[in-house]
Amino acid sequence: MSDTNGFKADLDARRAEARLGGGEARIARQHDKGKLTARERLDVLLDDGSFEEIGMFVRHQCHDFSLDQNRPYGDGVVTGYGTIHGRLVYVFSQDFTVFGGSLGLAHAEKIVKIMKLAMENGAPVIGLNDSGGARIQEGVVSLGGYADIFLLNTLASGVVPQISAVMGPCAGGAVYSPAITDFIFMVQGTSYMFVTGPDVVKTVTQEDVTHEELGGASTHASKSGVAHVTCGNDVDCLLRIRDLFDFIPQNCEEPPPRQPTDDPADRAEAALDTLVPENPNKPYDMHDVIRHVVDDGRFFEIHRDYAENLIVGFAHLGGRSVGIVANQPSVLAGVLDIKASIKGARFVRFCDAFNVPLIVFEDVPGFLPGTDQEWRGIIKHGAKLLYAFCEATVPKMTVITRKAYGGAYDVMNSKHIRGDLNFAWPTAEIAVMGPKGAVEIIYRKQLAGAEDPDALKTEFTDQYRHKFANPYVAAEYGYIDDVIEPSQTRRKLIRGLEMLENKVVNNPRRKHGNIPL
Ligand code: HXC
Repeated sequence: MSDTNGFKADLDARRAEARLGGGEARIARQHDKGKLTARERLDVLLDDGSFEEIGMFVRHQCHDFSLDQNRPYGDGVVTGYGTIHGRLVYVFSQDFTVFGGSLGLAHAEKIVKIMKLAMENGAPVIGLNDSGGARIQEGVVSLGGYADIFLLNTLASGVVPQISAVMGPCAGGAVYSPAITDFIFMVQGTSYMFVTGPDVVKTVTQEDVTHEELGGASTHASKSGVAHVTCGNDVDCLLRIRDLFDFIPQNCEEPPPRQPTDDPADRAEAALDTLVPENPNKPYDMHDVIRHVVDDGRFFEIHRDYAENLIVGFAHLGGRSVGIVANQPSVLAGVLDIKASIKGARFVRFCDAFNVPLIVFEDVPGFLPGTDQEWRGIIKHGAKLLYAFCEATVPKMTVITRKAYGGAYDVMNSKHIRGDLNFAWPTAEIAVMGPKGAVEIIYRKQLAGAEDPDALKTEFTDQYRHKFANPYVAAEYGYIDDVIEPSQTRRKLIRGLEMLENKVVNNPRRKHGNIPL
């Protein structure tokens, strides 16, 4: 139909105005900082041409502080839906060129609208955050707008995946929306998150700290653990979010997508047979185990720089998505501490909520001793990881590569807490504690009265090692389902996943559990 009444020119002009956001000068300023605009980001994030905008012509209705003189289309956030690898996702992308991306009532309502659509239609929500926080001129309605979003973040938790990218400032209570979501991606150098900025910090605690030190990507990736993935720039960040979608499903009712691979399911990996050093105190890199076992050596690591003594991340096995939780013997001997427990628990719960089977690679000497850990609550934090593995009903498999000592043996998806298939390499040592500590306790009296305590200690240690430093005692009880050659690990795990494909286990009916917090 021809445009007889001129609506097209008018509509085009309005759209062009909306697409310009805060105008050329502010867009240039955004680019000068090394940042893309809200719309450019969506172009990178979504499949070409797939974005459909919702709410382009929304404007705020605020009259205070002369805001009625300035009512830009879109109100500082671009919202809508599109696809990633052909699958539906809902998105919001804050536009820093409009009121610094600050959140007023209309802005919040746009986000709420797409979050509700996402929940009703069972598709993930991705939020690209770049905002000066609550819009100061709008006062309490901005705070209310945030609270509306927090509520929906909470209601959507475990229903659809929620991904946050922090690509600029994110300050004040605004940090709590990303914090409730499943994964936070941050961009090095241009993003920061904090509850109170450096000026307030200076007033209250007299500390001098920069934005970057207080809440930059590196800080949150390595110190606080708030950020799950750090990225070099905007494009890197958006492409990595696309990568994550290779591993996660649309919602809690669906399985994750299959990823076709040419990597043979029965690929034997001879290198694994010699990977664990003969000396039990010598470290090795558990990343090597993971890369040798998974499809095409591809591992999407989460929290890479935080609590490195525990490795978590996604991979595929025979085309199926899996969540890997692995002790890392080359950092703190792979011991479980507070940070590692929290990191692991959160990841296990994501996988369980979204039908991603869990694979555990275990080499753990126990929980970290000491007043620092005890006084900061290793008991309750370690219990988080225990609780998370206990409650998880997805297929769960464990491979003990070397040490499985003490409480950590139980925690790391042992048979007793519903591990479906528990394998051990012949190098596995499964015991209440390591030989040295055990001998010093159970033979204390004999050693004290001995003529040559060192010789006797060596003898007792050898006896203990002979008895427990192997997987066969546990296998006799059926706590280990099979002792496998390391080179066969990939084949065994893929067969196991196939076998467990239709697993159904339900936890008792309840309102919700009470995980130790
Ligand atoms: C309204 C805001 C704004 C805000 C920025 N702007 N923050 N407008 N409300 N909160 C506007 C600025 O007036 C400016 O408008 C434009 O955005 C860009 O801001 P600049 O300061 O020029 O940019 P920059 O130097 O890059 O600094 C960005 C900034 C700074 C660090 C974010 O603007 C800032 O500190 N803003 C205030 C942050 C803050 O305290 N927010 C409230 C947090 S409390 P023009 O027209 O010049 O382009 C909070 C409560 C949430 O969020 C509660 C939830 C429970």
